[in-house]
Amino acid sequence: MKVLVTGGLGYIGSHTVVELIASGHEPIIVDNLANSKQSVLNRLQKIVGKDIVFEKLDLTDKDSVEKLFTSYPFDAVIHFAGHKAVGESVAKPLEYYRNNIDSTLVLLEAMSKHNVKNIIFSSSATVYGNPSELPLEETSQTGIGITNPYGWTKYMLEQILTDLKASDDSYNVTLLRYFNPIGAHSSGLIGEDPSGLPNNLLPYVQQVAIGKLEKLKVFGNNYDTIDGTGVRDYIHVVDLAKGHVSALENIGNQNSVGIYNLGTGNGVSVLEVIKAFENASGKSVPYEVVDRRPGDIAACYADASKAKAELGWQAEKTLQDACKDAWRWQQNV
Ligand code: NAD
Ligand code: UFG
Repeated sequence: MKVLVTGGLGYIGSHTVVELIASGHEPIIVDNLANSKQSVLNRLQKIVGKDIVFEKLDLTDKDSVEKLFTSYPFDAVIHFAGHKAVGESVAKPLEYYRNNIDSTLVLLEAMSKHNVKNIIFSSSATVYGNPSELPLEETSQTGIGITNPYGWTKYMLEQILTDLKASDDSYNVTLLRYFNPIGAHSSGLIGEDPSGLPNNLLPYVQQVAIGKLEKLKVFGNNYDTIDGTGVRDYIHVVDLAKGHVSALENIGNQNSVGIYNLGTGNGVSVLEVIKAFENASGKSVPYEVVDRRPGDIAACYADASKAKAELGWQAEKTLQDACKDAWRWQQNV
């Protein structure tokens, strides 16, 4: 299929482009480079061994998006583009609502006008807020305990897409709720490259291991978890990317909006992550325990059985694989 990949030079989008091409699809990448670099395109082309179409444009710019849809007969859209830093979204709520909501509305209007009816949307486990039950199923309650504007944009965009499907059943809408993506492509050519101080655990651990940062701050060790530190469901980004290909190839098979958790189903603590990374890298990762981070929850992991049953997809790589790949990438950045 000819697939518009918005935010396709970003962390998850770039890995998905590789897997789309490996499965015989034709991605067309759009990105405004707000949180990515043009050089990722060359690296992608090196991995797949052919040219990839890239259009630099901002999805909030209606005229550019209209031109884009006039130029390419897309079969489907995978919509990754958006701002994603939780803390920044608290400091700059308007920027987050404007970018994430507007870009999606502009995109959906262009899709409507050009009769493109298949969309896969990057949602997040953040829509579950503070979970009252674990593991999280797709039917678990959403919206209670979301603590930041970024999370609300995901919740609101899920609603907008659900309303669109309700208004016109010829749309095929898939919402993919990612748990915690980590790792990098095994080539070491693409991975996550946060600018400034990393917000997320793995990039921080990586930078401590390589000596760029002195020590990790572990945000609390008094949660009700296996060792008191936060528990999450870490999924290798290549597994996540493959989940998009499965979602694409099954789009339209659902009676209503297709909602899928993309996770491993395993909860892992911060201390377990540190140990796994030390093993994979052969480096030590010094840490100190500090206060809890505001807005954090104790534990969050998926019931991933629906994606297996309906999409034929499941995560295959281990935490160790992810740490090894992340370490290879970190040494190349
Ligand atoms: P990323 O920042 O690496 O990629 C997003 C890309 O979108 C960037 O390249 C950025 O330049 C681009 N972009 C942003 N606004 C744009 C606009 N208006 N027009 C065009 N391009 C724009 O993020 P990622 O980690 O690859 O995440 C991809 C998607 O998955 C995001 O929607 C994110 O919210 C969601 N998600 C990510 C995680 C995670 O932990 N990484 C977890 C759950 C959901
Ligand atoms: N942590 C630390 N020290 C750090 C960073 C994180 O101890 O320097 C801990 C956190 O307290 C948490 C765990 O490591 O227990 C994971 O934290 P991340 O920031 O890596 O991930 P979160 O689960 O908090 O958030 C991520 C994404 C969100 C997304 C959410 C749910 O950043 O965008 O997963 O999918 F919404």
